[in-house]
Parts: sequence; structure tokens; C-alpha cells
Amino acid sequence: MPSIDVCYSPELLHLYDLKGKAVVAVDILRATSTMVTAFANGVADIIPVMKLEECLVYAEQGCLTAAERDGVKAEGFDLGNSPFAYMSESIKGRTIAITTTNGTRAIRMSEAAEEIVVGSFLNLQTVAEHLAELQLDVLVVCAGWKGKFNLEDTLYAGALAERLQSQFEFENDATLASLYLYHAAKSDMVSFLRQSSHVQRLENLEIHKDIEFCLQHNVFNVLPVWKHDRLVDLNAKHSLV
Ligand code: MLT
Repeated sequence: MPSIDVCYSPELLHLYDLKGKAVVAVDILRATSTMVTAFANGVADIIPVMKLEECLVYAEQGCLTAAERDGVKAEGFDLGNSPFAYMSESIKGRTIAITTTNGTRAIRMSEAAEEIVVGSFLNLQTVAEHLAELQLDVLVVCAGWKGKFNLEDTLYAGALAERLQSQFEFENDATLASLYLYHAAKSDMVSFLRQSSHVQRLENLEIHKDIEFCLQHNVFNVLPVWKHDRLVDLNAKHSLV
């Protein structure tokens, strides 16, 4: 029986052997939720990069550029990191190069894995079904905040573990703890997360509606996976559940 494990921060990845594993990279608020929303609204592919200057280079190749630092859209880029910015006709069929504070790091630091899948609550069931088919050991890589633990990504790990627990064994306590946290939160995740650090940070930036949007479950049948140097949606053309 394959196993499921949880890595609470990219800074802990050196403790894990990614070879042969399926990594689910998650940054609920907001990077991976935004990427899933972009694919659901017809973006062709997404190139996650680490650095701002690296992202700008892609403009010369006709890509749209997106960047966020500390929750704020970076100057000189076409887009920021709010899912609501990826719902217009203008992104259809485009390639987006994006860099964020934590989410794009979690994806790029997982390249040694057999497969990298982009997870969010918005496509939770789609990812769970894909992992059940893959039958590889799973590692959920939480983006966290600047190397530190965060609550919302851990709740996602718990939600995924809840859906896979009949077919996957729990590798260690990180998965169990995530599941217990999700059980405590799932009846009202918005209230449960009200005191969490990134919710506070976004609220202080007058960013409110993104939070409730990113906590919705199973809105999009989108399955972004890493192929060579970018993310593509394996379920393109079937995005709405
Ligand atoms: C991140 O990548 O750190 C987050 O998505 C930050 C944000 O945009 O809220």
C-alpha cells in the first residue's frame, strides 16, 4: 500500500527522499489556488520561477508576467497573485510566468520528484482521484511562510489524507496531525483560520474575498502537473466540475 506524508515547509525538504514520489505542492493562500483558477479560465501553461528578474525575462518571449512579494503585487508585472485577476478573457491561451513569496519555491524545490501536482481546495477531489490512480508514495509539500509552518496548507494536507486514508498508509505523525487539524476546522474553515498569520496579513492588506474563495472545496476539475519546465493541466477542456 502506498503511503502519504506531509512536509510542513520547503526548508525541511532535505529530510525527504523525493525519488519515485508524487509531490503535491500546496500554497492555499494563494499561489496554488491562483494557478488552478488560471487553468480553469483557459490559461495554456504556467512557468513558476524563483526570482523577479528571472520572471521578467519571459516577457520577451510573449508571456504574461506575474509576481507577488509579501502578499503585494510587484511593480512592473502584468499580474499579481489574486485568483480574481485570472478570470478575464485576456489570459485565455496565454503562457504565464509567475513568481511568489512561497508557492513557486515549493514547486521548484520539488523537481526531484517522479511527479509534481499542484494542489488546492478548489481541485481537491480531482487531485485525490489522480493520486489513487498513480499509486505512488505521496508527499504533500506545504509552501508555508518564509520557511515556517502555516495552518492553511496543513489543513489541505489533512483534507487530502482524509480522502486517501482507505488506500494509503500514513508515513508518520505529520499526516495524522494534519488530519486531526482538518477535522477540527472543516465545519467552518474561515472562522478556524481567522487568527492565522497569513489571513491576518491579507486582511491588513485589505485583501478579503480571496480568502473565502481559496477555501472553497471542489470547484474546478483541473489537474496541473509539472512537465519539463512548466505546469500544464492534464484535464484541459474539462475544467468546470
Ligand atoms: C505565496 O506564494 O507566498 C503566497 O501565495 C502569498 C500570497 O500571495 O498571498
